[in-house]
Amino acid sequence: MSNTKIWKGNSTFILAASGSAVGLGNIWKFPYMVGSNGGSAFVIVYLICILAIGLPVMASEVLVGKFGRQSPINSLKKLTIKNQISEYWKFLGIFGALAGLLILSYYSVFAGMAFSYVFNLFPSGLENPSSYSSAYFSHLSASPLVLIFWHSLFLMITCLIVGIGVVRGIGRSVNILMPALFLFVVLLSVYSAATGDLNATLSFLFSPDFSSLTPAVILSAMGQAFFSLSIGMGAIMAYGAYMPEKQLIGKTVLMIILLDTLVALSAGIAIFPIVFSNSSLAVTAGPGLIFETLPVAFYSLPMGAFFSIIFFVLITIAALSSAISLLEPFTAWMEELLKIKRKIIVIFIGLFVWFLGIGSIFSFNIWSDLRFMNLNFLEFLDFVTNNVMLPLGGLFVAILVGWVLPRKFVKENIKLNNYSFKVFIFFLKYISTGSIFLVFLYSLL
Ligand code: TRP
Repeated sequence: MSNTKIWKGNSTFILAASGSAVGLGNIWKFPYMVGSNGGSAFVIVYLICILAIGLPVMASEVLVGKFGRQSPINSLKKLTIKNQISEYWKFLGIFGALAGLLILSYYSVFAGMAFSYVFNLFPSGLENPSSYSSAYFSHLSASPLVLIFWHSLFLMITCLIVGIGVVRGIGRSVNILMPALFLFVVLLSVYSAATGDLNATLSFLFSPDFSSLTPAVILSAMGQAFFSLSIGMGAIMAYGAYMPEKQLIGKTVLMIILLDTLVALSAGIAIFPIVFSNSSLAVTAGPGLIFETLPVAFYSLPMGAFFSIIFFVLITIAALSSAISLLEPFTAWMEELLKIKRKIIVIFIGLFVWFLGIGSIFSFNIWSDLRFMNLNFLEFLDFVTNNVMLPLGGLFVAILVGWVLPRKFVKENIKLNNYSFKVFIFFLKYISTGSIFLVFLYSLL
């Protein structure tokens, strides 16, 4: 493995990993899930999951990648040989790399939709903006060709960046995309706090009301924490391989989860005031929240058209820096396995993902009646990846680092002080492993 694939300085790893973490999950999914799961109670459970499960599992993934310095699959292999444990652990990497491609296939469809909104402004002087907005959304959902166009465009940009390579492609683009993203998030939060109903938002997000806390809410908060932090499928493990030797895992991971959480909360602070300020709109709108509800809210605000463009550019950027991390593990693996150029590999993987994505597009229209286990194609993929593959991946990472690997090896590689190390192992071994297991079992029953 050549050293040319290491990012220089500490900031690129942080930007790439937080770029992976901050995505549609933060700006689209988090607000609507908060909205439809009762607000603050969901937020509190989510924050607990991020700290008690997300932090230790993410640190474990980084540890494996940084030790192995290869794709997740080969890093795991190297780890098993070094510690003389079963070679089968490499399947964790294969399973994750596949999960990444499955997620990417529908992620790209939604990202493409958001991208299309950058160019679709409301005409001025509408009598009823809310019917315009839902009509536009239904038109979009019912037009496979339009969706395919945006899906293809988004996926091509993703493949291009990953194809160019780790340092010049991914490294360089996150150094441009992420500062722009942070700037837009701040800008939008200030705008919406100034123009919308901030008080209602703050009490909705932060005043604890545990009456809405049900097992289903806890389950979705945990799933959301996994998805939002990009853990459970090796994306962070793949990036760990490119982390500079001297960079400290503990501090860096803390920084990444902090950034991810701040962006999710700011997205809530940016979106809800606008929704609350317009009495005809509901926070419980679900997945359509940003596509149907928000444009209407922007419409009635000063300079709304401008800020609506900024908002959708922001989502597109966030989605792009996440999409590249969904593609990277499989690409890195194929590069090692086949020893051919990345540029060629991403074309083939891209085509596979593109075809799968068409299935998700058809779920909105032509195939809307097609059901597997009572779910359409898109819902089925979403269920299998988010509710099964990611928690299982996370569970096995926690078991591997918390239970299977020799303590001494973990300690040498994670470089925490004695006290933090004890806390880390305790959480990983009992809290993370135990709670993922329980919640997972519950979700299958
Ligand atoms: N975390 C991203 C988001 O919030 C999505 C994502 C990127 C992801 N890479 C991942 C989710 C790996 C799970 C696993 O939108």
